[in-house]
Amino acid sequence: MRRTIIAGNWKMYKTIGEAIELANGLKRELFELDTQHIEAVLCPPYTALSEVAEVISNSNIQLGAQDVYWQDEGAFTGEVSPKMLKDCGCNFVIIGHSERRQYFSETNETVNKKVKAALKHGLFPIVCVGETLEEREVGRTFAVLDDHVINGLKDLDKDEFSRVIIAYEPVWAIGTGKTATPQQAQEAHMYIRGVLAKMYGAELAQACRIQYGGSVKPENTKELMSEPDVDGALVGGASLNVTSFATILKTAAQVKK
Ligand code: 13P
Repeated sequence: MRRTIIAGNWKMYKTIGEAIELANGLKRELFELDTQHIEAVLCPPYTALSEVAEVISNSNIQLGAQDVYWQDEGAFTGEVSPKMLKDCGCNFVIIGHSERRQYFSETNETVNKKVKAALKHGLFPIVCVGETLEEREVGRTFAVLDDHVINGLKDLDKDEFSRVIIAYEPVWAIGTGKTATPQQAQEAHMYIRGVLAKMYGAELAQACRIQYGGSVKPENTKELMSEPDVDGALVGGASLNVTSFATILKTAAQVKK
């Protein structure tokens, strides 16, 4: 049985004060969340990690970062290492988000280095994969998923892979209000699980958690989470508000219990 995981990607939103307020509100709303079946993760910007960590310490909410560099330390101006993220209280890190691929030259090769570095330091990587609208329209969705999954997870051993979380985020559904239909999400998730089965065997592929991301809202959570291969969500816009993110979590907990 895969444990559902819902993560909020706050992207470049929230000052420290705003982040503390949001985290406090979520802590209050979610204190009864049954974490036996569902995990809740907040991924604030780097600048608010320590403060949010403090707010959610001794709660059922966990902390993640939005990116990481692959070196432990060194002269890499502007970068943040896995060790630093652990030091801030992170357990998770988003890697290879489409915005990083699109605007910051992230490639499968850099994703792969980051995944390995995160795992080495005990972080659970949330590896983002997914096609653009153009790629979908020319029938390249599965080819893109092959490319992102096979090359992003290249040379991981079984133990390393067992700690990886995948987020299927079709680029055309991110921040557009255009959600993938539950059938489209299920089709992609099942495909990804098939690729993972070829790489790591059926048992480990069955155990791997695959989140859906792209315009997840309280109103569409139930139908998306009802799909058998959708194991959670990576939420952008709707994670910036206490009520909407808490509702997404509570709805998912209901569907998946
Ligand atoms: P939205 O939920 O705002 O579409 O963003 C999705 C996303 O990119 C999460 O990583």
